[in-house]
Order: sequence, then structure tokens, then C-alpha cells
Amino acid sequence: MNAKPYDIAVFGATSFVGKLLCQSLASQPGASGLKWALAGRSREKLEAFRGSLGLEAGGLPLLIADAADDRSLSALCAQARVVISTVGPYALYGEPLIKACTESGTDYCDLTGEVQWIRRMLDRYEPAAKASGARIVHCCGFDSIPSDLGVYFLQKHALERFGRYCTHIKMRVKAMRGGVSGGTIASMLNVVKEASVDPALRRALQNPYLLCPQDRRPATRQDNLMRPQYDAGFDAWLAPFVMASVNTRVVLRSNALLNYAYGEDFRYDEAMLAGAGLKGRLKAYAIAGALGGFFAMAAIAPARQALTRFVLPAPGEGPSPQSQKNGFYDLRFLGTLSDGRTLRAKVTGDADPGYLSTGKMLGQAGLCLAHSSKDGKQGGFWTPAALLGDALLDALQAKAGLSFELADA
Ligand SMILES: NC(=O)c1ccc[n+]([C@@H]2O[C@H](COP(=O)([O-])OP(=O)(O)OC[C@H]3O[C@@H](n4cnc5c(N)ncnc54)[C@H](OP(=O)(O)O)[C@@H]3O)[C@@H](O)[C@H]2O)c1
Repeated sequence: MNAKPYDIAVFGATSFVGKLLCQSLASQPGASGLKWALAGRSREKLEAFRGSLGLEAGGLPLLIADAADDRSLSALCAQARVVISTVGPYALYGEPLIKACTESGTDYCDLTGEVQWIRRMLDRYEPAAKASGARIVHCCGFDSIPSDLGVYFLQKHALERFGRYCTHIKMRVKAMRGGVSGGTIASMLNVVKEASVDPALRRALQNPYLLCPQDRRPATRQDNLMRPQYDAGFDAWLAPFVMASVNTRVVLRSNALLNYAYGEDFRYDEAMLAGAGLKGRLKAYAIAGALGGFFAMAAIAPARQALTRFVLPAPGEGPSPQSQKNGFYDLRFLGTLSDGRTLRAKVTGDADPGYLSTGKMLGQAGLCLAHSSKDGKQGGFWTPAALLGDALLDALQAKAGLSFELADA
């Protein structure tokens, strides 16, 4: 029925995360049955990387496409049912591929956490995606799969146990170890750069419902935990979590796509646990201060340039293989029902959140997309939980080193 030769094309296969993702795909049991291809702009780099993959990956096909060349992107879409892209910053390079996928009905997933860009893509290409059947799934890395699927998991159990959903869920980062890649820094700095010259964008970024459909946005106020505060539910001081501004938007969009199954009064917030007592309080202020200082510097052009040049890793750079393996994360979820009853869950990952774990998560999202039927899940801009739900939950636990479990505290 579908004459495309490949199930999946990994566009940006030679990026820092793209390589990790391809290594994870190549080592999947049954990988030989998967028809997939490496894609990117440089044949030379792709060939060198393919050689390093070992296996019979020598036979993996290479597809050459440039993010700025519409014709090459259409040709890429004609070859694969799903395109996984790691070519970022997406706000700089991503739009032509979204256009090509939505026009050709090609499914797509990526790692963007650039919510201002996602909003633009929704506004420009959602009608085309609905018409062609293309399913577009952004945010398939550390932002925002653990948050989005963590909420999905907790709500599923709340429904099973109590017959109804939680109306408020808090996610708290209990512990995390991991580094930052040049590509992520480049994307974050680009958001700050755009916002520093655009007051309307600054306002839009403050809106927790930015990614919800414009014609149906709840009026419920969402907590924005940007200042240190004490959280009795976790008996700890809270510090702001840098990814919260992305994850909260994605979780609220999932609720919207599920036809507000969790209620229009559903609230969701994220923060980091800094510990109890004076030590926890001081740590919370130190984290908040460091984060505030970073974003204040990043908003000033010369300081941003100095950060990029002298302090931060360049695009293509990231943590060493050893530190990726030593990385991990432990996220805690506390759900509360309207009658005050509570349910807790724990989500963990076995590797550096932003890189090795992200590469594995994106690979599983792409595989689930390739295996999922379009029946009942028509074209459009989805979230990982709303489109892939249980299938992704199972795959993440079986093949990407994540665990989802109910917890006591
Ligand atoms: N959501 C998350 O948790 C998460 C985690 C990590 C990364 N990310 C995001 O993922 C993206 C990739 O990160 P990274 O660190 O892997 O990036 P990276 O190493 O800097 O790689 C960027 C990739 O883009 C490719 N590229 C650039 N311009 C291109 C063009 N015109 N045509 C085709 N390809 C082009 C590069 O190709 P060459 O290899 O040929 O140079 C490279 O493969 C970033 O946007 C980052 O923010 C998100």
C-alpha cells in the first residue's frame, strides 16, 4: 500500500545526539528487519559514521539532503514513512522539513524544546498535516518525554485506582546527573536571542497554554515556580527547573489533545527538589541565582557571544561516553484528586538525560511512530503521550532504560 522504501530516515544522523540514536537503533533486537537509512547533508561524514557503526550497517543506505534545500527534503520524504530529525536549532533549520513532511503526509519526530518555533509550525502547517495525514511529534527527548509520559502513567493509574483523574500534578526533579551538548546550548541561546528583541514573543513564552488550541484554552491559573519556595508535599525547598517552561506546555497540550480528559481545571507544575531545612533553602536560592544569572547574561548580545565562544560547548560537542553512561535522572510525581486523595509515581532514566537517554527515547518514539496505525490517530501536531501513549510507555521501559512505577514518596 505504501511504496516508500524505508520505514525510518534519521536526518542529522551525524549530530551528537543523532549518532547516539543510530547506535541505539542499530543495536535493537530485530534491527535487521527494520528498513532504515542515515540522512544528512554530508555524504563524507555519513560514510565515516556508517563505518563506525560496525554491524551489517555497512549496508545502511545514505540519503543526502540539506535542511535549506526544499527539493532534497521532498526527495527525503518520498523515501521514508517516518523522518526523525536532530537537525537543530530547529528555529533556524527546521521549518523546510516540517513543510515537506506535512505536504507529503510523512510522519515526523524530533527533539525540539523551542516552544516559540513549535507554535509557529502549528499555525503554519497544522491544516496541511491534517489534510495529508502527516503526524508531527515534537519534544521527543528529555524535554518532554519523561514529563509527558510520567503524567500519562500517573493519570492512567489514578483512573484505575480511583475511577477519576488527578486535577493537580507536581513533577519534582529529585536527582539528576548529566552534561549539556553544544546543540542544546545553541537552541537555548537562540530562544533567548529571539525573545530579547521581541516583546510579543516574551509575553507568549509566559503563557502556559501557548501550545494549546487557540480556540479552546482553559482559564485555570498555572503555577510558575521561578522563585525558591517550600513544598510541604515533598517536605523540601524548591528551585526552578530549566526545562519546566517546555515540559509544562507539552503536558498541557497533551491534555488538550485528549479533549481535556484531565479537566479544564487541571494544573501541572515542575521544579527541582533542593532539600529540607536551611541547607535546602540555601541550595534553592543558589540554583535560582545561577539560572537567573545565566539567562540575564544570555539576553545581552556581547555576553551571549562571550558565553558561546569561551565557556559553552560548540555545536557537535557533548559529554564523554563515560559521563553519558554515569548519568541518570530520578523524577517524582505527586498527583492530587479533587477530593484531596493523592497518588505518587517515580520515573527514572539510566543515562545522561539530555544525550544518551535522549537518543534512546527519540529512537523509540520514531519506532513507535513507524509501527503505529494511523487508524483513529489522524494527521496533525501531536504530543508523545497523546499519540503514542501505552506503546511508547512499554518501549521506553523495554528498550530505552526508563522505568515508570508507583511510589510511596
Ligand atoms: N529535547 C532534548 O532533550 C534535547 C537533548 C539534546 C539535544 N536536543 C536538540 O537536538 C538538536 C541536536 O542537538 P545536537 O547536540 O545533537 O546537535 P549538533 O551535534 O550540533 O548537530 C546538529 C546537526 O545539524 C546538522 N545540520 C546543520 N545544518 C544543516 C543543514 N543545512 N542541512 C542538514 N543538516 C544540517 C549537522 O550536520 P553535520 O553533522 O553535517 O554538521 C548536525 O548533524 C538541537 O536542536 C538540540 O537543542 C534536544
